[in-house]
Amino acid sequence: MAVSYKELGLVNTKEMFAKAVKGGYAIPAFNFNTMEQMQAIVQAAVETKSPVIMQVSKGARNYANGTILRYMAQGAVEYAKELGCANPQIVLHLDHGDSFELCKDCIDNGFSSVMIDGSALPYEENIALTKKVVEYAHAHDVTVEAELGVLAGVEDEVASEVSHYTKPEEVIDFATRTGCDSLAISIGTSHGAYKFKPEQCTRNAQGKLVPPPLAFDVLHAIEKKLPGFPIVLHGSSSVPQDEVDTINAHGGKLPDAVGIPEEQLREASKSAVCKINIDSDSRLAMTAAIRKYFDEHPEHFDPRQYLKPARENMKKMYMHKIVDVLGSNNQL
Ligand code: G3H
Ligand code: 13P
Ligand code: ZN
Repeated sequence: MAVSYKELGLVNTKEMFAKAVKGGYAIPAFNFNTMEQMQAIVQAAVETKSPVIMQVSKGARNYANGTILRYMAQGAVEYAKELGCANPQIVLHLDHGDSFELCKDCIDNGFSSVMIDGSALPYEENIALTKKVVEYAHAHDVTVEAELGVLAGVEDEVASEVSHYTKPEEVIDFATRTGCDSLAISIGTSHGAYKFKPEQCTRNAQGKLVPPPLAFDVLHAIEKKLPGFPIVLHGSSSVPQDEVDTINAHGGKLPDAVGIPEEQLREASKSAVCKINIDSDSRLAMTAAIRKYFDEHPEHFDPRQYLKPARENMKKMYMHKIVDVLGSNNQL
């Protein structure tokens, strides 16, 4: 039986994005697969008084189970209230939906927002697929994120080898003809913990990689074409060096991992960029805490013992992003 997100206490992105664009901040979109990630996201959002998007990829949905995720999202709303938030603003969003059927299934099962990622398709096919999803979604008051331009790296089965920036001259036509509510663009970000090849970077005095800057000129040209239209940045983990160092110091192997500098994300948040996607930083925070814990407590084997510091470390990271990078705190 179909379940509307409204019955679960969730909201779509419409008002949230309008406020964020006006207010010059961005809403955090954190990916989650586990209960500990969900708890940490809710705790961080409540303590900072921030709206939040909890997003689930196709892979995450297969991993966690769609029914369980639906109730986890409902649980997130109730948990936020229990923690003292009178009016939680929580979105359950499908990240990188790759078909109409998947988007429909999510809409029918409690998602308040979906992404249809047709970015790897030819332009007209991307428009046709996005439009079809928008029609179904809007009939259920669900908001739709589309993508134009291709990010290099792994996009949950939507893969491309080369990075193609979004063409500003296409965005008006695309947004008008599809009716999408927000647009993910390509300005140099990419997914994962290895966003740039060492040969694309310079090295600082400490020998650490410094990535090339994001294409802010492309972002500003898009903003000019679509004033006030909500823009989304994927692939926006900053890959904190201290977490990478902790992982490597405790048996991990992440050489030359590099992300997007936070100053650039802070700058982007002040523009029409109103949703910033972060997944890898959560994975790194969790892995760093667990590796360290196992190294220091080889005799322990109760998951609660090592997942507790992992949850705390993720929460610290989420709060830092909200307050110091995206600026979405005190917006409830
Ligand atoms: O964009 C990709 C997200 O980081 C989700 O990754 O497909 O491995 O869950 P995943
Ligand atoms: P990161 O890999 O940079 O965290 O990006 C996540 C993302 O864009 C999810 O859609
Ligand atoms: Zn993404």
